[in-house]
Order: sequence, then structure tokens, then C-alpha cells
Amino acid sequence: MDSIIGLKSNVFLAPMAGITDYPFRKLVASKGKANLYSEMVAVNAINRKNPKTYRIADVRQEPYPVIVQLVGNDASLFSEAAKLAADLGAYSLDINMGCPVRKIVNNESGSALMKDMPRAAKIIEATVKATPLKVSVKFRKGWDNNSVNAVEFAKMCEESGASFITVHGRTRAQGYSGVADWDIIRQVKEAVKIPVIGNGDVVSVETAEKLLKQTNADGVMVGRGSLGNPWLLGQIHEYLQNKILPRDISVGEIKEALLQQLNDMVSFYGKEMAVAISRKYVCWYSKNLRDAKKFREIYTRIYDYDEAVKAIEAYFSKREQGDE
Ligand SMILES: Cc1cc2nc3c(=O)[nH]c(=O)nc-3n(C[C@H](O)[C@H](O)[C@H](O)COP(=O)(O)O)c2cc1C
Repeated sequence: MDSIIGLKSNVFLAPMAGITDYPFRKLVASKGKANLYSEMVAVNAINRKNPKTYRIADVRQEPYPVIVQLVGNDASLFSEAAKLAADLGAYSLDINMGCPVRKIVNNESGSALMKDMPRAAKIIEATVKATPLKVSVKFRKGWDNNSVNAVEFAKMCEESGASFITVHGRTRAQGYSGVADWDIIRQVKEAVKIPVIGNGDVVSVETAEKLLKQTNADGVMVGRGSLGNPWLLGQIHEYLQNKILPRDISVGEIKEALLQQLNDMVSFYGKEMAVAISRKYVCWYSKNLRDAKKFREIYTRIYDYDEAVKAIEAYFSKREQGDE
């Protein structure tokens, strides 16, 4: 398999707002080979130097390449934002043309751009022109089932200078429900020469392999499958590259991963916020373990960092002793 953007893996961690922050990227990077995205960065906010947005885009301290994703609706704002993101250490830039969230689409951004190809083209061209970095685009099957246009959209991206594209096989109207349509990814792959990454419902090495077989895509992107499972991306890479099947992850390793992430969240967000954010991770990491519901109920009522660590230690150590 040739590399898509010069990185040594064609497995991509999906950009996820509220998830793919520095602590999560660091964790996934420590578990295996994967290409990592930032959370989406609003072009108007970064141009205003909004401190929170600036921080999301600042990947200079990270030792691995990070693809920084931009979202917005105005080509000139993209030019500015692209330069700033490059200064802040982006390895390459991605443009979000797939986000279904109302606040984003009402602002003519995200998947709303699939209904306005001329504007989308201008945005891609302006971003490509602004820096020497490669620019990719992530989009969906279409706006809804009556306006499926991923193939045309992909051709437009290619003509506008995109280096590669990611196709999520759902329409905007579907949100995250239903099953991703991998056939649309196959159709896109047939229609363009630039590399195509397939996205939607990859949750295991088997589903990754199946998507690649069915679509002939050049790479896979994994979103929700990585929640509570930072090992998955590396496992998919090892399987696709070397046919190595994933080994079982022990409860002790899950505990260590969670504690590592919590610790990095403390450095990044401060103790109070780290504990609040960790609640969702605690749910994901304990998903298949015994008495998880009870543990989550206890954890939700914890606000203090030391107490949080103690609770995690106690719960996972008990599960580690053989009765998970
Ligand atoms: C919590 C969450 C946040 C997301 N945020 C973004 C985002 O910022 N940018 C983006 O392009 N897609 C975003 N997505 C979509 C994912 O990148 C991905 O396309 C989608 O989850 C489908 O892949 P999956 O089936 O592997 O989860 C988000 C998805 C989730 C679940």
C-alpha cells in the first residue's frame, strides 16, 4: 500500500470535536501507527485569535504529524486561517465539508457546502494557494437521499487542488444513524485519481479490511470505534500491513490508558475540567466490564481529581483480579 500523505500508515483517526484533542491524540499515537486529526477549527475564530480555538490548532508540541481540520464558509477567511494553522505546526490541512450539526450548517459551513459547489471550490482553491501544505477535504454522501452528489463533489475537490479526500458514507440528513453506504465510496474511488479514504462504521480490523475490499479505497478512517479503544487504529494498521491479528487488551492496560489520558487532560485543561471531561471516557473504557453501570454512577458524582484517580484504581483493579 502506498502512503497517502507521506505518513507510514493509511489508517486515519477521524476528526472528532470534543474528542480528538491533544491528550487523545497522544494516547492513540502511543498505541500504534495512525494518522491523527485535530478537532475542527473554526476559521473565523482562529483569525480572531480566540484563545480556545488557537489552543486547539496549536500542535507544535506534538512529536507526530497532525492534520488540522478547518471549518467555515468564506474563502478569504480560509486563506488567513490556513497560514495561521501552518504557523501553529499543522502537518497538512483538511477542510470540513461534512459536519451535519445545525449550528454549523446554518452558517453555510460543513455539509451545507455540499449544496454550494462553487463556494466549496473557491474555499479549496484559496486554502491550497495560501500555504505549501497539502489540503484534503472530508465530506459525506450528499445532503440527503434526493441530492446524493459525492461523485461530482469529489471531482470538484480534485479539480480544485485537494491532495486526497475522505468520504463518509452517510448523508447529512442521516446524521450518524443508519448504516454507512460503502458503495458510494467505491463510486467516488472510481471517479477520481487522488487517494480516497473510506469512512463510516469501521469498528474492527475485519470491518476495515471489508471496507477496503468493497470500495478499493486507499485508506480507512475510524471515528467512534476508537472511543474507549485507542489501540484500534494501530491494530488495523498492523493487520492491513502485516496480517497481525489484534491481541486481547487486558483490564490493567485499559486502566493505565485511562489514567494516562486523565493525567494528560489535567496538564492540558486543569484538574476540574479534566475530571468533567473524563466522565464520558470512563463510560467508554468500562463498557464491557462487570458492574460498569454502578461504577459510572459513582464516578459521575466525583468532582475531585484525587478521588477520581482513586475510584478508577479501585474499580479497574477489582476487575483486573479476574472477575471482569
Ligand atoms: C463526537 C463526534 C464529533 C465529530 N466531530 C467531527 C469534526 O469535528 N469534523 C469532522 O469532519 N467530522 C466529525 N465527526 C464525524 C467523524 O469524523 C466521522 O466522519 C463519523 O463519526 C463516521 O465515522 P465512524 O462511523 O467511524 O464514527 C464527529 C463525529 C463524532 C461522533
